[in-house]
Amino acid sequence: MFSNQKIERNAPCWCGSGKKYKACHMNFDQKIKHYEFMGHMVPDRSIIKTPAQIEGIRKSAVINIACLDKVAEVICEGMSTQDIDDIVYKTTVEMGGIPAPLHYEGFPKSVCTSINNEVCHGIPDEKIILKDGDIINVDCSTILNGYFSDSSRMFMIGNVSEERKRLVQVTKECVEIGLQNVKPWTFLGDMGNAVNQHAMKNGYSVVREIGGHGCGLEFHEDPFVSFVSKPGTEMLMVPGMVFTIEPMVNMGTCEFYEDKDNGWTIYTKDGKDSAQWEIQVLVTETGAEVITY
Ligand code: MF3
Ligand code: CO
Repeated sequence: MFSNQKIERNAPCWCGSGKKYKACHMNFDQKIKHYEFMGHMVPDRSIIKTPAQIEGIRKSAVINIACLDKVAEVICEGMSTQDIDDIVYKTTVEMGGIPAPLHYEGFPKSVCTSINNEVCHGIPDEKIILKDGDIINVDCSTILNGYFSDSSRMFMIGNVSEERKRLVQVTKECVEIGLQNVKPWTFLGDMGNAVNQHAMKNGYSVVREIGGHGCGLEFHEDPFVSFVSKPGTEMLMVPGMVFTIEPMVNMGTCEFYEDKDNGWTIYTKDGKDSAQWEIQVLVTETGAEVITY
């Protein structure tokens, strides 16, 4: 593959550091080759970010986080999900960014808003009004200078039942446990398994077919990130990879269906509640850096 082309020892490194390949990523590439030889899935050079790209993604993330901070300040009972869309659109554009969902594969709005039994991809609408006791996921994705950032949070409206509070809390813990398991030269399956174990231990199920993704130069890049995977499987994590941890955790069955009318919104099959938190992380030499939260 062109992007993993062999580089001469004294030629400039592919990462753009300006250093000679032998003094920069040569050993790194050999280590990856070793894992590939052992039969593991390994990252292509094209999904390993350079320091300049990481800086671009971090700047995009500043807007992404600001949007959710703004929503957190004002979200309340009686507000419509269109109001949330307006806040995200305005905040993003004022800070010089573009909302990534808008017109993405035909998605009509700037943010996803998914309430209670909606798993993800809820479409903001002025007719959808937040009620006392609702739980809602607000999923925000941002483009700045061509760099993508992505994160989502849960919000609890008014007096929320203990049952729903616990789902929201455990789902947050799932993401934190996932984060603790992001380490270079281990596998995405180690991380995904840790997430699933925590959800299952609490009597919940994790959606299998929709998961996390590489994110930075595109909205959705390789690899697909599963949260029901097995230790030692899935892609090797190496420094410079950027991806999301975003498990969808259901109170009942992990099965779901898509809205036939709008073609987007995903609902739990059994009508029980679902929660999701999403962060974007960079794999570092020693562990992980949180890019969005
Ligand atoms: N933000 C979602 C994610 O975390 C993707 C939404 S796609 C959209 O991957 F078109 F619905 F916005
Ligand atoms: Co995402």
